[in-house]
Amino acid sequence: MMKVRRFSTAALATVYVAAQIESLMTREAEPVLGLATGSTPINLYRQLVEFHHQGLSFSHVTTINLDEYVGLAADHPQSYRRFMDDHLFSQIDIPLANTFVPNGMAPNLDRECDRYDAIVNAHTIDLQILGIGRNGHIGFNEPDISLKTRTHVIDLTEDTIQANARFFSTEAEVPTRAITMGIQSILQAQSIFLMAFGRDKAWAVKRALSGEVSTEVPASFLQMHPNVTFVLDAEAAVALDDPRTPYPDQENLGSRL
Ligand code: PGA
Repeated sequence: MMKVRRFSTAALATVYVAAQIESLMTREAEPVLGLATGSTPINLYRQLVEFHHQGLSFSHVTTINLDEYVGLAADHPQSYRRFMDDHLFSQIDIPLANTFVPNGMAPNLDRECDRYDAIVNAHTIDLQILGIGRNGHIGFNEPDISLKTRTHVIDLTEDTIQANARFFSTEAEVPTRAITMGIQSILQAQSIFLMAFGRDKAWAVKRALSGEVSTEVPASFLQMHPNVTFVLDAEAAVALDDPRTPYPDQENLGSRL
């Protein structure tokens, strides 16, 4: 069942998701969180750090991240391990041994995917946080004629490379490959909260929520999960009200799908 929670602002939406995590953490003895990177969850992590300052302990929490760039070391400023350390792990009391992110520098990437799958399979993710790409990707499962179910190495699409170039000095520095959990790994979570803010995401949100399940819109596979909540600000929800509202680059995007 796809639930949709709409908020007037991203700040309100973020507080809602943070409260869901806090409630899970007080309910479960050993909660497992599936975490995402990108600009969308940054304020969520800020809110969790705030909860920690108010006394919430993460010492009993395990986290499993969705993805990592191939070729970036853990301490590279744009690696996702570094992102998680900076925005969350270094500011709370979680044991680092309980935090999992794929190793983008692994000498044998196939073996790294197997190792990560074993970690995913050994845990039940209670609550998975997802962002969504403007092309409908989740994790780094990019639109394609087929999707991989388990953890795998993927070539990033031009759209994603362009979207992520804002974090690097030049587009040429953006890695072209990533390790990502697969669609099936993501669907194994008990509950999923997909956060989407801004008009840029409106097309992907609408397409994921309604319409066919298609490998061209990986987020549409969430329709097959029993407990998914889309948490949206007003802008990301705009196409739900007005089916004619076009995605800003829809033509451009359409030509690639
Ligand atoms: P963003 O990325 O949060 O930076 O918009 C989301 C995603 O690409 O999954």
